[in-house]
Amino acid sequence: MKMPAMSQSEVHFETVSKSFKRRNESALLVLDQVSLHVAPGEFLVLVGASGCGKSTLLRILAGLETYDSGRVILDGQPVHGPGADRAMVFQHYSLYPWLTVKDNIRFSRQLRVVRDQLTSSDVEAASGRSDALLSLMGLSHAADYYPNQLSGGMQQRVAIARALMNRPKLLLMDEPFGALDAQTREVMHDLIRHVHQLEGTTIVFVTHDVEEALYLGDRVVVMAPRPGRIDSVVSVPFGRQREQDLKATVDFLGLKRQILHRIRETSGMKTNRDMLEQLSQQGSQN
Ligand SMILES: Nc1ncnc2c1ncn2[C@@H]1O[C@H](COP(=O)(O)OP(=O)(O)O)[C@@H](O)[C@H]1O
Ligand SMILES: [Mg+2]
Repeated sequence: MKMPAMSQSEVHFETVSKSFKRRNESALLVLDQVSLHVAPGEFLVLVGASGCGKSTLLRILAGLETYDSGRVILDGQPVHGPGADRAMVFQHYSLYPWLTVKDNIRFSRQLRVVRDQLTSSDVEAASGRSDALLSLMGLSHAADYYPNQLSGGMQQRVAIARALMNRPKLLLMDEPFGALDAQTREVMHDLIRHVHQLEGTTIVFVTHDVEEALYLGDRVVVMAPRPGRIDSVVSVPFGRQREQDLKATVDFLGLKRQILHRIRETSGMKTNRDMLEQLSQQGSQN
């Protein structure tokens, strides 16, 4: 069942700049006049070399980081801080080790019960939601386990379920599968695509893995470092029904090569390789 369009956030970054002050050095310009639109219900992926400002951009959107100039507009309102309309999933699972899987997922709702004195029917509705999420994540059998009894992939599924619990309109994911092995990542890719289709939530997803970006995204935004900026935006032409075999097709590999090339060109990695080649040539002459 698809959620109504109301539950999807729209984002506008308008010439957003951000720098970090450094002691005894000039300030580091991490985002230089970044403009970006995320459409309601879009699955947008940011890629780029380490240090190009991906996490900073995501943290600004989450309201966890300030910015120096420009505007960040979420559903018509400027972003001034965190809110329940947004949820974030990080690379490290950050579950509460003393709570079971079920209670980790319900945790924020239970806090609200204490604070707002929600009625028992609210609590029942919440347990319906958490059961549905457990089942969606294939975790029903593990509802009473503790985090240390789970594999990395299972822990990250709990973290995603917890993020979805309050029906966020915007799901922010910062390299969420970065610590998982290749097979588990493939499973997670299909799972998060399924979740996106089912819930309709707008997703902004950060990764440095170009294959992951192309398999997941409706669009892939390539960022470049020093200063952090948007280099190019690729509309992914594969439709929304995707299967793992897609990754071996000529079109997929062509786009992957094109994006990798942009990342190398803009990040100075090419120069490093040229230097290595020069060094090895010098070595062979001696
Ligand atoms: N709180 C901070 N204080 C100072 N510098 C920071 C801070 N956070 C990030 N940076 C710097 O800003 C740049 C961009 O960081 P980040 O957004 O984490 O990049 P990415 O996620 O693309 O790897 C990096 O050079 C990083 O060292
Ligand atoms: Mg990062």
